[in-house]
Amino acid sequence: MNSPSPLRIGLAGLGTVGAGVVRLLDTNAALVARRAGRRIEVSAVSARDRARARGIDLGRFAWEDDATALAARDDVDCVVELVGGADGPALTLARATLAARKPFVTANKAMLAHHGLALAQAAEEAAVPLKFEAAVAGGIPVIKGIREGAAANELARVYGILNGTCNYILTRMEHERLGFAEVLADAQRLGFAEADPTFDIEGIDAAHKLAILASLSFGTRIDFAGVATQGIAAVTAGDIDHAATLGFRIRLVGSAAVDDGRLMQRVHPCLIPLGHPLAAVEGPLNAVVAEGNFVGRLFFQGRGAGEGPTASAVVADLIDIARGEAGPAFAMPVAALAAMAPADPGDSVERCYLRVTVQDRPGVLAELTAALRDAGVSIESLIQRGVGEDGGVFVAMVTHVAKGQAVAAALKAMAAGSSLTAAPVMMPIIER
Ligand code: HSE
Repeated sequence: MNSPSPLRIGLAGLGTVGAGVVRLLDTNAALVARRAGRRIEVSAVSARDRARARGIDLGRFAWEDDATALAARDDVDCVVELVGGADGPALTLARATLAARKPFVTANKAMLAHHGLALAQAAEEAAVPLKFEAAVAGGIPVIKGIREGAAANELARVYGILNGTCNYILTRMEHERLGFAEVLADAQRLGFAEADPTFDIEGIDAAHKLAILASLSFGTRIDFAGVATQGIAAVTAGDIDHAATLGFRIRLVGSAAVDDGRLMQRVHPCLIPLGHPLAAVEGPLNAVVAEGNFVGRLFFQGRGAGEGPTASAVVADLIDIARGEAGPAFAMPVAALAAMAPADPGDSVERCYLRVTVQDRPGVLAELTAALRDAGVSIESLIQRGVGEDGGVFVAMVTHVAKGQAVAAALKAMAAGSSLTAAPVMMPIIER
């Protein structure tokens, strides 16, 4: 009997993850072939710098200077894109691959957040798979978990820690009582944070991932522009300390839900009760919670980045393709995805943490509590501690359940007074 023909890969991008895919396919070749039913082999590669030391033998692969050429090669059945960037060469390659009616695998969450629906449409028209397990939460099989394992459920909510850089920074600030800038600088020196960490610390990377998860979870069209996004730069060691005193940890959380026919998507530093599973997620780990109407709460945790975990996710997609398992990219045909208007973040009803720094003079606390009273927001607990870095008094409060618009009105009234020495900070509390 003839052995089945291998699945031949064109691999674009030979950075950490690309080199990891080559290493995984070498190391686990026999196991992968048994699971996939045929061998999976790289036949051609493309990267910016051919000479760079990667610890892998590139001499056995054909080389293309222009990644787009991979799509047209006769010895490439399927293209893997690990170049990155929402537009530019990655998008050109995606379009060329799908136009050539070949399966496309990517780890590129920015491209999917911006162009995912158009690419999914092109994949449907070409009747080929578009796969992206590595794009959200690295090695955690959360795309498969939601798209396949939980496919029979109506999902009410999906949320989690989607950025390892921010989680690493926040947990180090917590354990070592250091400031944000100091930990960020150290994280860059150690290679945990990019030289330009803007997308990570401003929450944009988490927002890309959340927009993809929300579409998969709720059957809605991807709406990256509808994600209300706030990063972690304003979180101080004092906030972390006060949150701990009140029984919480601070994490950057992306959360999405359908509320009254509207899609709520937001990325925010949040307070999480110590007993919640997300509060135990430390360092660069990622975690995702999804709630289904039959399965209940699912909790996924693992490594969200790095060579091994991300290569693991990419090759899982390749195994599916080699087996002939496909299905629509976003769990249903693009035409079936609902266009849902974004929810107003001000409509959220929840407890909040508020931090204000004020001048140390008589009556200041009364001004703060009056602003909250006038907006109809009730205080559950309050901590005031001595003189802060800017000479102000640090006041941390937890409110009772209140509407976002009311809390915003109270903060606006406080900021309009003469007592504040810095902009106030609000972080929602995740209860369960
Ligand atoms: N920069 C991302 C993070 C990893 O810090 O989680 C890739 O998505």
